[in-house]
Amino acid sequence: MAVTLRTAILDDIAPVGHLHHRSRRSAYQGMVPDAALDTYGADAAARWWVERWSHERDTHRLTVAEHQGRLIGFTYVGPHEDGEPATGELYAIHVDPGHQGRGVGRALIRDALDTMRERRCRRAVLWVYAANHRARDFYEAGGWRPDGVGRDGWLGPVPTPQLRYALDLTVAAAEPATPAAAQG
Ligand SMILES: CC(C)(COP(=O)(O)OP(=O)(O)OC[C@H]1O[C@@H](n2cnc3c(N)ncnc32)[C@H](O)[C@@H]1OP(=O)(O)O)[C@@H](O)C(=O)NCCC(=O)NCCS
Repeated sequence: MAVTLRTAILDDIAPVGHLHHRSRRSAYQGMVPDAALDTYGADAAARWWVERWSHERDTHRLTVAEHQGRLIGFTYVGPHEDGEPATGELYAIHVDPGHQGRGVGRALIRDALDTMRERRCRRAVLWVYAANHRARDFYEAGGWRPDGVGRDGWLGPVPTPQLRYALDLTVAAAEPATPAAAQG
């Protein structure tokens, strides 16, 4: 599948919000009651991204993935939220539910890690819901590991446990090139 990655522009931001909502709705179904996932709808997500990007566009990088001219995924990367030096944070990675499992996420996360290395980060971190086993499998296949730190994230009004994952960016090619290599 031909996928193009590029830095987002203003016209992408609202569609990113809509995709984010679709992806969360699908990925987190069953983790909390449906009503909690509908607390904020697609348009609220779009407004949230427009606001956030307006403050962070100079320090963070929003990258979109396109297939046949349509947005199918994105990542959001920036400095560590608590200012830990030489640490980059992957704040979001989402692939449209209809395009998951085809390598788009892998292409996006490689690009995000390249961005962090270009920014001279030595360590990458992210937060993932403990019950999001698909994403945890995806990260672990790429060499990420829980670093022992936890917190509650919020799915609508419901506090939901999250785990912090970390990756050492000084280790070359942390992500295996092939599934066979992944099995060692
Ligand atoms: C997690 C996510 C970004 C991965 O993107 P993707 O495009 O589906 O993943 P890829 O097709 O690139 O798969 C890469 C690897 O992920 C793992 N993976 C893919 N589909 C999987 C599934 N259904 N279950 C478990 N692992 C899976 C595999 O290790 C796969 O390697 P393989 O190609 O050797 O099989 C995507 O599924 C997604 O957007 N999920 C919903 C949102 C989300 O949870 N984001 C993370 C928030 S912290």
